[in-house]
Amino acid sequence: MLTKLLKQNASFELAIITIIGALWITNLTFRILNFIYIHFLRRSSIKKYKHTWSHHSSTTTPWAIITGSTDGIGKAYAYELATLGFNIVLHGRNGLKLHNARHSLQNEFPHLQFRILQLDAVISGEEGRRVVREKIDAIKDLHVTVLVNNVGTGAKNDGPTLQSFVEATPEDIDLMMNVNARFPLQFTHAVLPLLLSHGGPALILTMGSMSDVGMPYLATYASAKALDLGFSRALRRDIKAMGRDNVEVLGIMPAGVTDVSWDRSANSIFRPKSREFAKKALGMVGCGEEVVAPWWSHALLWEGLKSFPTWVLDIALVKGTRQAMTDQPELSGGKKT
Ligand SMILES: NC(=O)c1ccc[n+]([C@@H]2O[C@H](COP(=O)([O-])OP(=O)(O)OC[C@H]3O[C@@H](n4cnc5c(N)ncnc54)[C@H](OP(=O)(O)O)[C@@H]3O)[C@@H](O)[C@H]2O)c1
Repeated sequence: MLTKLLKQNASFELAIITIIGALWITNLTFRILNFIYIHFLRRSSIKKYKHTWSHHSSTTTPWAIITGSTDGIGKAYAYELATLGFNIVLHGRNGLKLHNARHSLQNEFPHLQFRILQLDAVISGEEGRRVVREKIDAIKDLHVTVLVNNVGTGAKNDGPTLQSFVEATPEDIDLMMNVNARFPLQFTHAVLPLLLSHGGPALILTMGSMSDVGMPYLATYASAKALDLGFSRALRRDIKAMGRDNVEVLGIMPAGVTDVSWDRSANSIFRPKSREFAKKALGMVGCGEEVVAPWWSHALLWEGLKSFPTWVLDIALVKGTRQAMTDQPELSGGKKT
């Protein structure tokens, strides 16, 4: 009798383990196939957003607005979207850099139009809200189909990029929250009526950062970037709840990207150049995810980070960041990035 019971129990346990194993393998297989499909096989549906609009007997061509487009990934988005045939509104704070960016884009794409939207993302309060409204009011004649929330910075008023939170100044905390978190929300809020009013497909891309896993020495930046992706996820469903299924809201999760204002070092399979990264990010449009890491090695890293136990993350991130500070003393020694 006892032997029979033990046998029954053993076969029950075996059945449970087999079911769990089968589910785990199915899930893993699905994720691997999805990874291969998204990163190497599927084609972007970005062209869906390149539609014209007939209005008062005139036809308007599509526009993309890109924040922080005078350098790095934002500038790369501008070139990639112009290559696809979008007119571009270039946002930035530096008048000279904006004019240079427009000049070189106009030379390369003479058939397209480029406008400048100069606005310092750090300005907050009543003045900040007023200037955002004014600037968007000045472009309300445009047929806007794409918004890229790219502006972001780890740069401070003073002091190193990597610094423990206790050493950060209250001014730097405000600066970083303003540029990386407050501005993207206020700006999107002001641009949304332009994106929604034509009734056609519209796209909102928002740049996050893998630092939102909880990088030490980057507490303010990492939390502001986490807010950006939280916002993107919620906005996605907020717009769906309005019954607008033709508005795509996609969060972009990068790790290291080179050829940006603060890093012109050589690229590698782990650190693509900004143009390579922007092209891949636009390639992800229509992939169906709410947040995606467009560069394949970043995506693998992200999967790893999500599956490690907390104690492994604690050790890896603290040790890894300290090592980076030793290898590149300028990151923790006062050089602005
Ligand atoms: N590169 C990476 O490894 C990496 C990794 C994770 C996430 N990201 C994210 O990717 C996005 C782009 O970063 P990036 O590396 O390309 O940076 P970047 O090369 O420094 O470019 C940032 C852009 O934002 C503009 N900007 C900065 N502060 C501004 C302000 N107060 N007002 C208006 N414009 C301002 C810059 O203008 P100026 O030309 O005047 O400085 C520039 O056009 C950011 O959201 C960043 O958080 C980057």
